[in-house]
Amino acid sequence: MIEVKNLKKIYQMNAENQVFALNDISFTAETKEMVAIIGSSGSGKSTLLNILGGLDRVYEGQVIVDNKDIKDYNPNIYHRFKVGTIFQQFNLISALNVLENVLLPLKFGKQLTGKESEDRAKYLLDKVGLSDRLKHKPNELSGGQMQRVAIARALIAKPEILLADEPTGNLDSVTGKEIMHLLFELNAEENMTMFLVTHDLHLAEGIDRKLFLRDGKLVNNI
Ligand SMILES: Nc1ncnc2c1ncn2[C@@H]1O[C@H](COP(=O)(O)OP(=O)(O)OP(=O)(O)O)[C@@H](O)[C@H]1O
Ligand SMILES: [Mg+2]
Repeated sequence: MIEVKNLKKIYQMNAENQVFALNDISFTAETKEMVAIIGSSGSGKSTLLNILGGLDRVYEGQVIVDNKDIKDYNPNIYHRFKVGTIFQQFNLISALNVLENVLLPLKFGKQLTGKESEDRAKYLLDKVGLSDRLKHKPNELSGGQMQRVAIARALIAKPEILLADEPTGNLDSVTGKEIMHLLFELNAEENMTMFLVTHDLHLAEGIDRKLFLRDGKLVNNI
């Protein structure tokens, strides 16, 4: 379970100018729940996701994952293995091929043999429909394919929490829907709690829970 308690993120620009990027946000998410974070540009969605992912550790309030404050986890372990992250711009390494990109997070010391890692990478790449693209470099793929590589990479270390920041933002609507279906399927199969940021209400259809942010405030939790 994930509990967010009175989360505040304030950017102090100068003496008289502050941005309340997150203003006293509290909610809980059950294990395996799929949660949409919805709000217009500047409402605080990425700020919230970066805190949940352990990338931003400067905030007030608490984030508790499995009864432990995320500040009490080893930061490397937390953001490499507890969570997996997918970004709007895919963030693949251009010099590495598809299979190498997916395997990359495991280079930092998870207890899997080379064979186990490669089997899981191939299983995930098959799952996302890319088994015939293992040796392709990112610039030899379409946008939707790049995003599917990024999804496989996010899942390689079996994270308990998947964080996706506008994962379909750079894709056409048909490909975007395919990626959403894939995320639904993976959510059901891989026992993950999933947070999905979007400004598009249509993409949040069918998601268990919806958190609406406006100007850093949680205005609805349904
Ligand atoms: N490093 C920073 N310094 C100052 N203000 C910032 C910084 N990063 C973000 N902000 C402000 O915090 C607010 C929330 O930003 P955030 O990136 O979380 O929005 P968002 O909901 O993800 O928007 P978008 O849909 O455009 O990605 C914005 O008003 C932004 O200007
Ligand atoms: Mg954002």
